[in-house]
Amino acid sequence: MSENTYPSVNDLTLEEKASLTSGGDAWHLQGVEAKGIPGYMITDGPHGLRKSNSATTGEVDLNNSVPATCFPPAAGLSSSWNPELIHQVGEAMAEECIQEKVAVILGPGVNIKRNPLGGRCFEYWSEDPYLAGHEAVGIVAGVQSKGVGTSLKHFAANSQETDRLRISANISQRALREIYFPAFEHIVKEAQPWTIMCAYNCINGVHAAQNRWLLTDVLRDEWGFQGIVMSDWGADHDRVASLNAGLNLEMPPSYTDDQIVYAARDGRIQPAQLDRMAQGMIDLVNKTRAAMSVENYRFDIEAHDEVAHQAAVESMVLLKNDDAILPVAGDAKVTVIGEFARTPRYQGGGSSHITPTKMTSFLDALTERGVDAKFAPGFTLDLEPADPTLETEAVEAAKGADVVLMFLGLPEAAESEGFDRETLDMPAKQIALLEAVAAENKNVVVILSNGSVVTVAPWAKNAKGILESWLLGQSGGPALADVLFGKVSPSGKLAQTIPFDINDDPSTINWPGEEGHVDYGEGVFVGYRYYDTYNKAVDYPFGFGLSYATFEVSDVKAVKTGACTATVSAVVKNTSNVDAAETVQVYVAPGKADVARPKHELKGFKKVFLKAGESAEVSFDLDDRAFAYWSEKFNDWHVESGEYAIEVGTSSRDIAGSAVVELDGDGKAQPLTEWSNFMEWRKDPLGSKVLEKLRAEGEAGRMPIVPDNDMTRLFLDSMPINSMSVLMGADGKQIFEYMLAEYAELTK
Ligand code: BGC
Repeated sequence: MSENTYPSVNDLTLEEKASLTSGGDAWHLQGVEAKGIPGYMITDGPHGLRKSNSATTGEVDLNNSVPATCFPPAAGLSSSWNPELIHQVGEAMAEECIQEKVAVILGPGVNIKRNPLGGRCFEYWSEDPYLAGHEAVGIVAGVQSKGVGTSLKHFAANSQETDRLRISANISQRALREIYFPAFEHIVKEAQPWTIMCAYNCINGVHAAQNRWLLTDVLRDEWGFQGIVMSDWGADHDRVASLNAGLNLEMPPSYTDDQIVYAARDGRIQPAQLDRMAQGMIDLVNKTRAAMSVENYRFDIEAHDEVAHQAAVESMVLLKNDDAILPVAGDAKVTVIGEFARTPRYQGGGSSHITPTKMTSFLDALTERGVDAKFAPGFTLDLEPADPTLETEAVEAAKGADVVLMFLGLPEAAESEGFDRETLDMPAKQIALLEAVAAENKNVVVILSNGSVVTVAPWAKNAKGILESWLLGQSGGPALADVLFGKVSPSGKLAQTIPFDINDDPSTINWPGEEGHVDYGEGVFVGYRYYDTYNKAVDYPFGFGLSYATFEVSDVKAVKTGACTATVSAVVKNTSNVDAAETVQVYVAPGKADVARPKHELKGFKKVFLKAGESAEVSFDLDDRAFAYWSEKFNDWHVESGEYAIEVGTSSRDIAGSAVVELDGDGKAQPLTEWSNFMEWRKDPLGSKVLEKLRAEGEAGRMPIVPDNDMTRLFLDSMPINSMSVLMGADGKQIFEYMLAEYAELTK
């Protein structure tokens, strides 16, 4: 053993190895005292540190934790489209872990927001895997740059809370590869998270914790994951099966390490597999050792609050701004309505619940800035019916104001880990109050606080301005003041479509499943991939967000750089007199394809800050994955030859320009057989040669002639050649035998 490392697995007894594969308690690894291996703490995550303050360290007490900076949860941060900012949040979280001697922070969670009703949408990133992966990678890289580990979760397909511990998510290989895996895959390849947390649910009938295909074949062998896999809390139901599948660590412990010992003795676990799993745990402890040895470290509370503030500023999405009602003029008479302005809803409920170091509400921020505004709470933050006294008071307060800032949203009890929501609608009492206020004063701006999408259309007519502020963390108040009063222009973009109605969502008929399973019947057509492909109206599209500035995207140019790669560039100009940031988005739209593909998919984005009148060129390298789909036929990624439009715009529905590239494709082909149809023979380079020769032989009178008119072509195109005799009797048999023989000759 060198001075800087703990022993290797070869120095441990069987019992000691087994002990490393479960926790010491709910929030600690199990150390091996005799060999000097410490049992470091690991705890939540994901938008700040939630370290239990309980006297007994094993206790799960979600609301009693040491103060830590509460950054905006992913619902907000994902709207920033700013990976550098997200990296800074990660660095700050790591510093808090070092102070609190936490070796691994449990996050980020990159499951796909398959349906906006999902209870944990507030802590997941997007309906789009490219965006989720390219944003959340900042948390992983940022935290780990300081020597603290992350736990990328929940691998995989934990997109709902209903029956989450038992349900089988039944998903096609293609949808897994294109939608539910890529965020994990990108982060593994780009940033090597030190740990991954497996999901509770089953995938196609096998619990994630026991799924060897998932945890070993895909994660380690295909993607090259080097870290350890831990179970979600209570997701390990069979120690032996899980360890064999590739699960290093059971959390929290079920005190069954003896099962591992017996199984290793009787051969149900191979020694090499136990060694691999236990060595992974030692490697993890080694990686975190330096950071965990730092003594008396104190993070800078103010500096971290400032990071939270900046993150909150970039998390808001301006949805509507009629008559340029925002920003509010400095001398305007302002009335603030809504309890959320005084008691902010700034994070979600469940395992991620943080005790913030500071809390500045919007009202506090106004006081700090010396802004004199009337305030009326208007409603209570519970699920109780409306209070007429509060309502009357609010309507009174709105009278005569130049602008009414109305803080509406979902109360804490409406969304949390542990259950899915039942409606996208806002609480009825808040909608009724908005209507009453708008009848009195037309200059209403609604500021929304919610972790996942709410319907906006039913009440939007009563608001000239709508600012979706999601959940903004502890510094949301000052950030809102900055944006509403125009110190900073809003720059957030939707990471999730806002539909008109939940029944428009493509997963609706398979949500949330029944009798222990949920069929992901919409396949790859999740979110905008469905809405845009099938031309369905949406209220606000994916990628959308207004600014106080205006921008123009022009000069879109694309160049092919290889058989399956291209580069695209464009110019973005701030055409206003306001300094602000715009996010340029790149979508790839395949031409004719062998499989049903979404109309277009996000494959690049860049947030660019531009001073008034300034412009900049942006460019993007698109690799082969930007053009590929997962082919179940090849069991691999496949880029077809043909035309691809590369679109550049500012939302999935605001495409400023596009350019077409013609790609050669990857040339993958499957050998032709008697079961291949005529179309497949025609498209195949060798198959088409065989058909040419067959035609020539027919014209020379040495072979029967294959009928070739529009009707027969249609018929034959979908017919395996071994069925030719149905159409042509004995001649058909002769033809198909000839084709196979010729093909065999060519492929010799
Ligand atoms: C959650 C995880 C969390 C863990 C520990 C589980 O219920 O699903 O996200 O990290 O608890 O609190």
